[in-house]
Amino acid sequence: MTEERPAYPFLENQTVRRWTPQAFGRDRTPTDLAASNRSDREWPACWGDAASLLEWSDTYERILDEEHAPFYRWFVGGRLNATENCIDRHLEERKNQVALRWEGKRGERRTYTYYDLHREVSAVAAALRGLGIEADDVVTIYLPKLPELPITMLACARIGAVHNVVFAGFAPDALVKRMQRVDSSAFVTCDGSFREETAIDQKRKADTALASLEKSLPTIVVDRLGASHGTHLGTDQYDYNELVETYAGADVSPVPRKATDPLFHIHTSGTTGNPQRMTHSTGGYLAGVTWTAQTVFDLSPGTTIWCTADIGWITGHSYVVYGPLLSGATVVLVEGSLRYPDRHRPWEVIERNGVEVFYTTPGAIRTFMKWGKSFPSSHDLSSLRLLGTVGEPIGPNTWEWYYTHVGEERCPIVDTWWQTETGCVLISARPGVDELKPGSVGPPLPGIEIQIVDEDGRDLPPGEPGYLTIDRPWPSMLAPLEGDQYWVLAEYWQAFSDPRAETWRYFTGDRAVVDDDGYVTIIGRDDDVITIDNRRLGTAELEAAITMVDGVTEAAAVAESAAGETTLCVFATLEQEQRDRNAVRDAIRDAVAERVGEFTRPASIVFTPELPETYSGKTMYRLLERVVNGRPLTDSDTLRNPEILGELITIWNRE
Ligand code: WTA
Repeated sequence: MTEERPAYPFLENQTVRRWTPQAFGRDRTPTDLAASNRSDREWPACWGDAASLLEWSDTYERILDEEHAPFYRWFVGGRLNATENCIDRHLEERKNQVALRWEGKRGERRTYTYYDLHREVSAVAAALRGLGIEADDVVTIYLPKLPELPITMLACARIGAVHNVVFAGFAPDALVKRMQRVDSSAFVTCDGSFREETAIDQKRKADTALASLEKSLPTIVVDRLGASHGTHLGTDQYDYNELVETYAGADVSPVPRKATDPLFHIHTSGTTGNPQRMTHSTGGYLAGVTWTAQTVFDLSPGTTIWCTADIGWITGHSYVVYGPLLSGATVVLVEGSLRYPDRHRPWEVIERNGVEVFYTTPGAIRTFMKWGKSFPSSHDLSSLRLLGTVGEPIGPNTWEWYYTHVGEERCPIVDTWWQTETGCVLISARPGVDELKPGSVGPPLPGIEIQIVDEDGRDLPPGEPGYLTIDRPWPSMLAPLEGDQYWVLAEYWQAFSDPRAETWRYFTGDRAVVDDDGYVTIIGRDDDVITIDNRRLGTAELEAAITMVDGVTEAAAVAESAAGETTLCVFATLEQEQRDRNAVRDAIRDAVAERVGEFTRPASIVFTPELPETYSGKTMYRLLERVVNGRPLTDSDTLRNPEILGELITIWNRE
């Protein structure tokens, strides 16, 4: 008996769009290093092109050391410093160019030129040294989107210390978890921050976490709330501004680091189990990030980029801080939520700052859709020339809305696929070079080789969905520390590698399908899979069918198990409250049955104002499954909107 495959909604509805470099608003083709043909013939030598975008104190001896594969080492023998590359080398040509524009929640604005950054980073670096911090020491940073956050990261990098940024929204327990496997020698936080009109006491959260650590840490406290708040500094706690004043004018030369030395630790977003600690190397990470900043985001000196990610996530590390500064660009950093003081904020920020490159998540775009097109259309968005998205499948409908109402049918969209582990974008169309297909993330970048495989690791042909694996190492790949190697091997390399044959295949944890042109469509996380009738279905695949229904903005598909039978349950958000809900319900049932298969016709459909999502904008399926199956809700550390859980339970029980 042959099984009929469900139709893949993504592959059917793709429109192919192509932009010539001229149409893209610039009279040049974006940097196309390691061009495809060369990357095949001369691999890994082609990656030398990415490394050559950096200034090295000592050039490397070997591009790639495979001796301890799969723990590859890139640019071995080379030495460099991240801040030399992000700041010092720009001083001669553009020291008075704006490096960072910050907009605070209360309308405050601050700008820093590259020269300002140089002075403040040097002062903080000297202050850290004054507190006894040296190369290889770890500094945990727990700050919201303030200029002091990138400045402190860079100050660490300047003296060779390793930063460990923890998202400021986390509660003390979550912070402690993220400090435990990293032996921090210092800590940086702030007195508080404003959430809408209320001041949030960040320092109290920090103090609670610090009290539960075994040793006390010298702590730097940034003043965000102003003197009237009267924050008390305890023993070994120092005011950031006073330190900057004390060390003003300090001359701290950048400490050359081995390419393989760690630049930072970071934790994965944790949609499923516990967050994992990742480590990124100095040389390989910076090479990958600077190359993609130029190739995928077309950054060059003076380009203004606004990436809405929090700096606590990898997207913020790579495309708010390192990528743009390495490229001499101007970074826009916006404190607070995109809906405060009102729904005009995102578009006002773009208009006011002349943002050219805008990078956000499908979740944010779906929120903009819910609010309606009148918000972007009442602003002058003509400065935009390139849009990006990351973090989740975007789906053709949302893509089209972004393209039409934000990009004004003028800006290409780069749908970039990557992970905390990969350090930089690995799969994306390059603007001005590749065709764009809504819903597909595009081809792997030159130098990157992917393969879709089945459960037994056999290669699958185009059109067949399976597991997304990466065949060859890449420079900005995860750089495990010694103690990490065992679990890293188990988690990422064991599933599809054949160590005896010395062929190593990195497993991304995602399911995907490739079309005849080599374009990749992400179906979803392997763990976001529902089995119905013995068929494994990616949630994203079901959701793409659901969000094609008129009026539906967002959907999550989860499995409901009762009496040994699994049925499909759908949570959806709607564009306008007054819609005929029963008609939408029927349309959703039909859409899923028609596009994925009759056997997937949803048993329950529930409308909710919001889906539970992580701070980085990923739907938390685990919590929805627990709601549906009446299990207790645990581990919601990473949940951005905890208030929705109670509401969901009420709605679910009512339906
Ligand atoms: C998902 C974020 C579809 C994917 C940089 C991946 C995507 C996980 C896309 C990593 C995309 C990322 N389309 N899915 N363009 N980009 N993902 O570590 O499941 O927070 O494995 O890194 O997000 O999430 P992380």
